[in-house]
Amino acid sequence: MVVEEFIPNKKFKFIDHAIVSSESPSNIALVKYWGKIPIQIPANPSISFTLNKCKTTTSISFQKKASKGISFKFFFDGLLKDSFKPKIQNFFKRIIPFCPYIEDYSMEINTKNTFPHSSGIASSASGLSALAMCIVQFESLLDLDMEIGFIKRKASFLARLGSGSACRSIEGGLVVWGQHKEVVGSTDLLGVKYPFEVHPIFLDYLDTILLVDKGQKQVSSSLGHDLMHKHPFGPQRFDQAHRHISKLIPIFKTGDLSNFIKIVELEALTLHAMMMSSDPYFILMKPNTINIINEIWKFRNLTSVPLCFTLDAGSNVHLLYPKTSLKQVTILIENCLSKYCQDGQFINDKVGNGAQSV
Ligand code: PMV
Repeated sequence: MVVEEFIPNKKFKFIDHAIVSSESPSNIALVKYWGKIPIQIPANPSISFTLNKCKTTTSISFQKKASKGISFKFFFDGLLKDSFKPKIQNFFKRIIPFCPYIEDYSMEINTKNTFPHSSGIASSASGLSALAMCIVQFESLLDLDMEIGFIKRKASFLARLGSGSACRSIEGGLVVWGQHKEVVGSTDLLGVKYPFEVHPIFLDYLDTILLVDKGQKQVSSSLGHDLMHKHPFGPQRFDQAHRHISKLIPIFKTGDLSNFIKIVELEALTLHAMMMSSDPYFILMKPNTINIINEIWKFRNLTSVPLCFTLDAGSNVHLLYPKTSLKQVTILIENCLSKYCQDGQFINDKVGNGAQSV
């Protein structure tokens, strides 16, 4: 796969006005992406579960204009939000070579999340993938020959240019982003559906997100990625991610939950260990993040319920467990873990296997 594949080389149909919309889920990485080279090429491959309920819905109204240039208004929950504009402006600038038509239209973007905006849940994966899908849907009106597979590939390719992890939110289920020698078809350019056998236990896996801190995180992911450039443990970390994906292949096949747990928790802690050992160093976990981890370990030792945790770049904890453990984990959350959450709040989600509808 090459970048040129996504540069249009056809004469487009004339359209004066159109409205497109898309709903896109968030995702949670099992093997983490942390570190990149320009532009948005991951330092190591990653793999994630697509979520089902944490979603962004976006619509764009395109209106043909006389002059060339990027022009858009951005509304979040019905309110004009200029504070979001710089990130989106950057995204549009990056995608012009691949979507030159956006300069011929003024765009009105309307977006909303199914999860609370101030929940500390990163909305960049669902937000940028929904936006990218809208743009490609519009392109498919200008070029009626675009086939569904290409629409999805291009949406993932564009989403990556907005936020790396967003490229894993298009395909549904388990998605791999970044070239890995054993994963057929994997590429640094976009997310691909995990191509091998997956044990049924992983198809309806559950993810409860414990909201430890609903505030804005203090260090952006972009800065964290940059700090991996000269990180003393960078090369070892990138190798480890490759090895972890290799180890997950037989685990996904057989449903070996004890080894799944080992890799997923090690990945989460390694991500945060990278943050704590970069220059400058920083900590995103909060005391209650650690309290929850200790409670999970205690619970697992006592009950053997295959509950594990993962973390993204923040203090919230994702509880991952099979559907068969729902009852015991619900009791644990209600009787114990919810007290570590801000306002006792958590979000019950699950793996979403449906690919984005086009
Ligand atoms: O997509 P970004 O730049 O927001 O980075 C996301 C990085 C992690 O969420 C920490 C890991 C991942 O692979 O999703």
